[in-house]
Amino acid sequence: MELRFSTWQEVDAYLQGSKAIILPIGSTEQHGPNGLIGTDALCPESLAVALGEKTGALVAPTIAVGMAQHHLRFAGSITLRPSTLIAVILDTVNSLLQHGFERFYFLNGHGGNVATVNAAFAEIYAQFSMATAGADRPAVRCKIVNWWEAEGVMALSKELFGEADGSHATCGEVSLTQFVYPHSIKTAEMDPPIAPSGTFYDATDFRQRYPDGRIGSNPSLASPAAGEKLFNKALAGLEKSYREFSA
Ligand code: NI
Repeated sequence: MELRFSTWQEVDAYLQGSKAIILPIGSTEQHGPNGLIGTDALCPESLAVALGEKTGALVAPTIAVGMAQHHLRFAGSITLRPSTLIAVILDTVNSLLQHGFERFYFLNGHGGNVATVNAAFAEIYAQFSMATAGADRPAVRCKIVNWWEAEGVMALSKELFGEADGSHATCGEVSLTQFVYPHSIKTAEMDPPIAPSGTFYDATDFRQRYPDGRIGSNPSLASPAAGEKLFNKALAGLEKSYREFSA
């Protein structure tokens, strides 16, 4: 059940049976020569919608722009600064709290969001911890789950792509978007076939180290068939994790 396609009466009725909601969160940033700029939002969004269908959970609109400052030297990338993303998460959770939601399951598509999302969770808990003791308040719980860390997904990626999966513009995420959006498949030559690996600081440093945007990957190995396998593996793992969290 998607929030954007629901009426307020339907949300009222949903809250009689569950206080949990799935919030897809991603990024809008370059993903190398054949990866879509929306990859990190499209992956968790498509999985969240499928997870919502499987479990009956309500799915919030995707937070599609995340913390991606290091990608800003590539055309089309958009970032929120960490403090802005914290504010977006805080306002979203506080809005939903008004209606009775207490379990917030953030399904994440971008590693660069993790530190900031956890900082936002600390802000949310601090609100309650610093409120007057004994006040009637909900038992709010927030969780962030990276789709590529759902049970079995990393092992499957390793089996499908080995070391060439990499850590940015990975074979796995490119495959997943190719499966979900077959009309948006891109092809490009990868030079070198496997991109360099390592760390980075700001956007200029990132562009110097990783000229075509990839880190450690060879996403020319991506395929819709691999994406289908990863999608189904991720969905099974996420179903288990969401049911545990929302119970
Ligand atoms: Ni990505």
